[in-house]
Amino acid sequence: MLSIHRVFTFFALASLAAAVTSNKADHKLHKRDTLPDFAITYAPLSYLYSGEKWFPSDITTHLANVKPEVNYTAIGANGSVTLDSLNTLASDVYLTASDGPILDPLDGTPAWLSSDYGIPNSDGLSAAPGLIISAKKNSTTTDVFYFYFYSYNYGGGVLDINFDDHVGDWEHTMIRFVNEEPYDIYVSEHSAGSAYYWDVVNFSGKRPITYIAYGGHANYVTAGTQNYTIALGLISDKTDAGYLWDMTLNYRGYLYDVDANKFTAASGAGKGATGEAGETADWLNWLGLWGDKEYPDGFLDDIETGQYCIVSECHYTSGPTGPVDKNLGRTTVCENDDDCTIFTNINDLTEQS
Ligand SMILES: *[C@@H]1O[C@H](CO)[C@@H](O)[C@H](O)[C@H]1NC(C)=O
Ligand SMILES: *[C@@H]1O[C@H](CO)[C@@H](O)[C@H](O)[C@H]1NC(C)=O
Ligand SMILES: *[C@@H]1O[C@H](CO)[C@@H](O)[C@H](O)[C@H]1NC(C)=O
Ligand SMILES: *[C@@H]1O[C@H](CO)[C@@H](O)[C@H](O)[C@H]1NC(C)=O
Ligand SMILES: *[C@@H]1O[C@H](CO)[C@@H](O)[C@H](O)[C@H]1NC(C)=O
Repeated sequence: MLSIHRVFTFFALASLAAAVTSNKADHKLHKRDTLPDFAITYAPLSYLYSGEKWFPSDITTHLANVKPEVNYTAIGANGSVTLDSLNTLASDVYLTASDGPILDPLDGTPAWLSSDYGIPNSDGLSAAPGLIISAKKNSTTTDVFYFYFYSYNYGGGVLDINFDDHVGDWEHTMIRFVNEEPYDIYVSEHSAGSAYYWDVVNFSGKRPITYIAYGGHANYVTAGTQNYTIALGLISDKTDAGYLWDMTLNYRGYLYDVDANKFTAASGAGKGATGEAGETADWLNWLGLWGDKEYPDGFLDDIETGQYCIVSECHYTSGPTGPVDKNLGRTTVCENDDDCTIFTNINDLTEQS
């Protein structure tokens, strides 16, 4: 009896030990989560426009200056939101500027909107953390997304009239790696973007060079006047080698499990790493909007909000959805899987609508 009891005890202890060990292993594995090295080795180096006025923003500073609204009405007794409470909000919530409608975007106020603190220094370090998300698609293919966030999108103007201004601006570059080697690159441009084979873009060492257009922050692989125009061709995107921004110096890093639609924190750098260490990754699942809802275009409303619309283009448009809504599970290299041409010449652009 005694020996049977001992054997039983032995097995009980052994399985308990195994459970403890496997828990430990899980824990260790979790702590070891890190972005693949190639995500940093081949990360884009980006140039903001020399005349830029709306710089990269820290998402936590943005959140401190907005309040959640549904249908232009503040929700929640508190009225404030943090990164950790973001995903408790519904998807019809607009993070609306606490300062009210931005009546004169060109005067540089409020300061959190122009985000001068995000102007990169001479090393390319911006105080506003970037966001790098690595999404492994299968045994051979990994997509690495480099997300840029700005508190304001200035759509550009003709004389005193300008279009497509909105609070909150998410743009991204994506590099697809096949067998850990970069294969092609996608740059987002407003609601569309362009894709190129890796070898055809310009590099600094191993890193591709991208350019970020004035105001609206669309991404391009060339400097100059771009083939994107609105307002009957009167406004086009402009890029040049203004301020070098090296996102790898300061970013939050995450892994994205496409099948589970789950984000986990991975290695970050600088202020982004420090911030990330005290946060959950849940905010990335939030499907709501990062800026004000488009203001109605009616006589009385206009006086309060500065809204106007001319031939279906409006001064103020709604803020954008976040990274989770940018087709991270895409099969092609493009955000729009149904319309993806991969160019072999950097002077080619996708047709923009
Ligand atoms: C939004 O608010 C307006 C004015 O209060 C109201 O007429 C309208 O029904 C609301 N819309 C929704 C979708 O709740
Ligand atoms: C209210 O907002 C503050 C600051 O963002 C936050 O720390 C606190 O948890 C919020 N309280 C509630 C009840 O949501
Ligand atoms: C980029 O590469 C192209 C060739 O693909 C070259 O003509 C051009 O001068 C390069 N631009 C810069 C800024 O280096
Ligand atoms: C991996 O995923 C990519 C992107 O969807 C696809 O093009 C490729 O064929 C897949 N490879 C394998 C081995 O499944
Ligand atoms: C510029 O855009 C137009 C219209 O969208 C398109 O037809 C044309 O091919 C584009 N040009 C280049 C060089 O990509």
